[in-house]
Amino acid sequence: MHYNLAFIGFGNVARSLAKLLIRKQAILKSKYGVTFAFTGISTGRHGFAVNPNGLDIEKALELVESGKDISALNDSPFPITNSLEVIQHSSADFMFENSPVNTQTGQPALDHIRTALKLGMHVSTANKGPVVHGYRELIALAKAQGKIFRHESAVMGGAPVFSVLREAFPLAELESFKGILNATTNVILSRMEDGETYEQALAYAQKIGLAETDPTNDVDGWDAAIKVAALVTVLWDTPMTPQAVNPTGVRGITPEMIAQAKRENKRYKLVCSAEKINGEIKASVSPQLVDSTSPLYGMMNSSTGVTFRTDVILDYSIVLSEKPGLTGGPEETAYGLFADFVNVVK
Ligand code: HSE
Repeated sequence: MHYNLAFIGFGNVARSLAKLLIRKQAILKSKYGVTFAFTGISTGRHGFAVNPNGLDIEKALELVESGKDISALNDSPFPITNSLEVIQHSSADFMFENSPVNTQTGQPALDHIRTALKLGMHVSTANKGPVVHGYRELIALAKAQGKIFRHESAVMGGAPVFSVLREAFPLAELESFKGILNATTNVILSRMEDGETYEQALAYAQKIGLAETDPTNDVDGWDAAIKVAALVTVLWDTPMTPQAVNPTGVRGITPEMIAQAKRENKRYKLVCSAEKINGEIKASVSPQLVDSTSPLYGMMNSSTGVTFRTDVILDYSIVLSEKPGLTGGPEETAYGLFADFVNVVK
């Protein structure tokens, strides 16, 4: 089976995905009989291109990575001027949505996904915005179209979280979850424990590409809150916005507080949690002191992880360990999108 692919958003994650698809091209064909072509690309600052016969992806990567525009690769009889036109004219069967996250409304990603599903494409996104602002609608639309909407990379990059709960826990009731979902604040708290100032530690998280473009989203807890909201929305099929999580970030944690905690063999962590009690869901993101009995205590630097409590398996944890030389993990996030693609098409 052959798939035409549209890429909406062509930043670090999407480009890593394109490279991963190329690297796995032969095994996709030999194991699952799947072939593909790149037929539409929409970039934030380097133009748009469609070609239903297949774009030269190596050239597109080279152009964008050297700061150039890809419009010369466009092969439509008229200019393409926005993402929706790329989706409409790409003849794609599968759309990868990786435009920047909008925590308030989920736009424009929501409209990109609606358009792609209506045109009969499967969709995978790493974008948390449309998950928290449109999950039920998008799942229903996909179902009506006989297509699939997936979002594995939206939480914990490429580590399987949603698919594990969906596929490997049939009829289990999720009671609660608790974890560390934002790596930037974990790096900041870890490095402050080693004597760096808040500013130095944040600068490091920015240097390695971990912090969001606007780090306010990390340090004030919004990235963590939208991840909690995405887990609640999907796993309990109960819409929740990041605003409803109402997060507290790490700006109020002083070096003195960290030093005092260290003397008591404790640590501050930005703890993300939610629980369902008598049908009511309570979610929170806030800095909390943890001691060595907590599974969160040993998660340092860019490690993230979450423990799910269910009525059948008491505590099931997924941990994404820190990687030496980490540069923001676009390859891992790309793998989540790739896994969505393989799981849909195989
Ligand atoms: N800024 C995010 C974090 C990147 O620090 O966890 C991954 O979503």
